[in-house]
Amino acid sequence: MRIDILTLFPEMFASFLDGSLLGEARRNGLIEVCLTNIRDFAEGVHRQVDDRPFGGGPGMLLMPGPVVLCVESVQQATTTVGHLVMLTPGGRRLDQSVVEELSRKERLVLVCGRYEGFDNRVRETLQPDEISIGDYVLSGGEVAAMVIVDAVARLLPGVLGDAESARQDSFSGVDRLVEGPQYTRPREFRGLTVPDVLLSGDHGRIATWRHQQAVTATRSRVPANLPPHRS
Ligand code: 6GU
Repeated sequence: MRIDILTLFPEMFASFLDGSLLGEARRNGLIEVCLTNIRDFAEGVHRQVDDRPFGGGPGMLLMPGPVVLCVESVQQATTTVGHLVMLTPGGRRLDQSVVEELSRKERLVLVCGRYEGFDNRVRETLQPDEISIGDYVLSGGEVAAMVIVDAVARLLPGVLGDAESARQDSFSGVDRLVEGPQYTRPREFRGLTVPDVLLSGDHGRIATWRHQQAVTATRSRVPANLPPHRS
């Protein structure tokens, strides 16, 4: 997969992209991430990208010109235009099923906003898929873009060492259950022991126990993910 990230702050991504999971995936050619600075598409000596809103109000808006030119330039760089995503707090809410949908695209183009938002003509011109990572306000879309890249990358074939582990994660698979408790060594820690069933070697009983624990965890944390007869 190729992911383009359009941002005014490309330097924010350096250590993130070199980090263990993503750095390895990029070195193995499983994912290609290209950063483009929106400011490179601004005009004039000052390379202005933002301005005050017409009608008044606080803060600054991203001007349509630099954003639209930047998107068009990046899309023209390869044969596939890619699925265009704009990171905005008002977009549709990211969850694991949206992540799965994005992971099936051949190419993603992520546009990060800053300041108080985009001039609305960016939307009208580009008609992007607008995505938010939750109901709170970030100072820009960069952290949200990192969230998407991280969540999508680990679903790409070959990125995780163990192909099963992504499928068994919380919110994955058909029933979207939260994962139940897990244990590693030591068998006893400060008087707390590992449930006997996990030491039994009986894989059928272990699977049943894990499923029950997942249903219990889901009931207390994300009851909406349980079918009616289970809640
Ligand atoms: Cl995508 N951007 C900003 N600025 N704030 C957010 C967000 C995005 N998602 C949640 N809050």
